[in-house]
This record gives sequence, structure tokens and C-alpha cells, in this order.
Amino acid sequence: MNNKIELAPGYTVSRVLNGCWQLSQGHALDGPLDFSDVHKAFEELTEAGFTSFDCADIYTGAEEFIGEFIAEKKQDPSFKETDIQVHTKYVPDLQILDQVDFAFTESIIDRSRQRLHKDVLDAVQFHWWDYEVPGMIETAGYLNELRKQGKIRCVSVTNFDTDHLAMLIDAGIPVVSCQAQYSLFDRRPEKKLQQYCLDHGIHLICYGTLAGGFLAERYIGKKREEIIAETRSQVKYLQVIEDSLGWDGYQKLLLVLKETADRHGVGIPQVAARWVLDQPGVAAIVIGVRSSRHVHDNEKIFSFDLTDEEKKQLRELIDSYDNLPGEPFELERTVGSKYRNIMHMNINEEEQS
Ligand SMILES: NC(=O)c1ccc[n+]([C@@H]2O[C@H](COP(=O)([O-])OP(=O)(O)OC[C@H]3O[C@@H](n4cnc5c(N)ncnc54)[C@H](OP(=O)(O)O)[C@@H]3O)[C@@H](O)[C@H]2O)c1
Repeated sequence: MNNKIELAPGYTVSRVLNGCWQLSQGHALDGPLDFSDVHKAFEELTEAGFTSFDCADIYTGAEEFIGEFIAEKKQDPSFKETDIQVHTKYVPDLQILDQVDFAFTESIIDRSRQRLHKDVLDAVQFHWWDYEVPGMIETAGYLNELRKQGKIRCVSVTNFDTDHLAMLIDAGIPVVSCQAQYSLFDRRPEKKLQQYCLDHGIHLICYGTLAGGFLAERYIGKKREEIIAETRSQVKYLQVIEDSLGWDGYQKLLLVLKETADRHGVGIPQVAARWVLDQPGVAAIVIGVRSSRHVHDNEKIFSFDLTDEEKKQLRELIDSYDNLPGEPFELERTVGSKYRNIMHMNINEEEQS
């Protein structure tokens, strides 16, 4: 399998994007990050061809950190801005959704361009916290206008359900990709979104593939009560595990993944990542980077093929448990749900001031 993919005519990205939520302030619960080590990871990942990054306007400090890395690269006269691709997000705060206009949208896009040291944002993934608040289609239209002005290369979305994505498509917004949580635990995109994206030429870009790191050898044989979440991401994926396979199913899955990984001379995370990449319509996955520990593992994701028998075994195992209810991000949108209660929905405004 090739580790690059053309997302739009003339625009190619790595099939594993370097995820930067893990760099945002307050994400690590197990102590401060060593940012010099993260910098080393960025150097090694980009040298190995993993040149694409995922971040967001609301990942506090992440756009700035990537931007400093790009600014350093720009010191080299042979470096071109397009050598590194950054997919950021535009996530207007819940509390100001009804006030979002073109000027506000442009100010956030310009702030991202400035922070990232990029004249053109390669992709802006749009999120709208509350479908009940009018303005979603108009706001996607502002991004499309900024694309026409040359400030954005691709307009994309994140955490949309099928019907609302269809509303944007029907309104003529040229959505290039849709970012969604998709993993061996969370197969909500398979209900409807995946087929819609396939039918409309929209690339799926998936996160949660390693369940915040829980899909790894070091969790084999662990009891639930021994686990303390090391990141905000793990707080969420503990809920996802409990509501899908449950702890026993998770432990069974780890053993099957381990056997599979051993056959191919790789590790559990590479099998879990490859499984998602092999699903129809999935262009790329995003794996969170918080140190240089795993940088050489990405290449291994492309070093083997899962056999039909292995795919069948994994499918039978996960299908014997519940999928999460609803469409992608539906639980997360539901007022009062434990998924919604762990999210921060008003960050941009604080960042502006
Ligand atoms: N659109 C959205 O709403 C949304 C939501 C969540 C995430 N995302 C994006 O997706 C990215 C990934 O976040 P996630 O929460 O889904 O986490 P994830 O990628 O499932 O897990 C990341 C964790 O896995 C471990 N890891 C990283 N690379 C590894 C490798 N090659 N082998 C083994 N373990 C590895 C690391 O933990 P250790 O170093 O501790 O082992 C890391 O903290 C984020 O950074 C963000 O860019 C987007």
C-alpha cells in the first residue's frame, strides 16, 4: 500500500497524518509534554515522508507549535511551503454560533495562516457544534469564498453526520474530506456516512484508530481498575471501549490483534491502523503524536497486507459486540451525554482575546 494519496487534483497527503490534539494545553494528564522531543518527532516523521499534520484552531498552542516548525524549515531556501501540509479546523464556539459572519470567519482563517506561517491553508475542516442554530450552510459558504480568494486550498468538514453533510453538498460546497472517529471500537461511519462519502467522492479521514493508545501491547491482560487515563483522549476512549466491546471484548480483541501482528512482524497499533485504512472510502488516518517514541512505527503500517482470513476474524469479533448508537458524533452532540460532558465547546473566543 502506498503511504500517499491524492486528496484533490494536484494535492497529495500522507495516509497517516500527524495528529496534534495531543499537543494542546491541558491534554496530557500524566505530566507536561517534552516539546523538544515532539520537535524531534516532527523532524523524523517529515524526513520519513509523513509530511501532513492535523490540528485545529481550538487545539491551544498546536497551530503555533507547527507554525514554528514550518518557520524553521523556511530558513532552508530549498524548502517549499507545500512540502508540509497542514489540515486545521474552523470550530466556532458554541456560545457565538448565532453571530458567526464572514468577517469573523476570515479573522479566524487569517489567524490560522499567521500562526502556521502558511499563506494558503491546505485544508480547513469545518465543525458546527449545534445543528439547531441557523448559519451552518452560510458559514461553510464563507469558507468556500475564502477558498476562491486563495486563502484555503480544500474545504473539508469534521464530525458531521450524513444528513448535514448532504445539506452542504446540496448547497454546492465542494467538500473534499470528512473527518470522523472510526476504529475497531467505533464503526458508526459504516451505518450511512461511509456510503454517502463514497457516492459523492468525499474522502474519509479517520481519528481514534488507536483509541488514544489503548490498542497497544502494554494493555494486554490489564484490568479496568488498573487503568488511569494519561490523556484527555484516553478519557474519551475509555467510554468508547466500555460502550462498544466492553473490557472483556477489548481484551479478546488485543489477543487477536497480537496474533495477527506477530504473523506480520509488526505491532498491535499497526494492525489496528491498517484495518481502518483498508476500509472503503478511507483516504487517511490521523495518529496523535506526543513524543518521538513511535515515529518509526508509521512505516510498518504499509509493510504488510491483512489477509482475507484475518479481516474476517477481526470483523466477526467486533460484529459480535454492539456498535456505538447513532451517527458519527451523535452521542457527542446529545445534551447531557457523558460524551458531550467531557468536551470543551467554547475555546476560540478565549483564544481570540
Ligand atoms: N475531529 C475531531 O474531533 C478529532 C477528535 C480527536 C482526535 N482528532 C485528531 O486525531 C488525532 C489522534 O487523536 P486520538 O485521540 O484519536 O488518538 P490516537 O491517535 O488514537 O492515539 C494517540 C496515542 O497513541 C499512541 N501512539 C501514537 N503513535 C503510535 C504508534 N505509532 N504506535 C503506538 N502507539 C502510538 C500515543 O500514546 P503513547 O505515546 O502514550 O503511547 C498517542 O498519544 C488528534 O491529534 C487530532 O489531530 C480529531
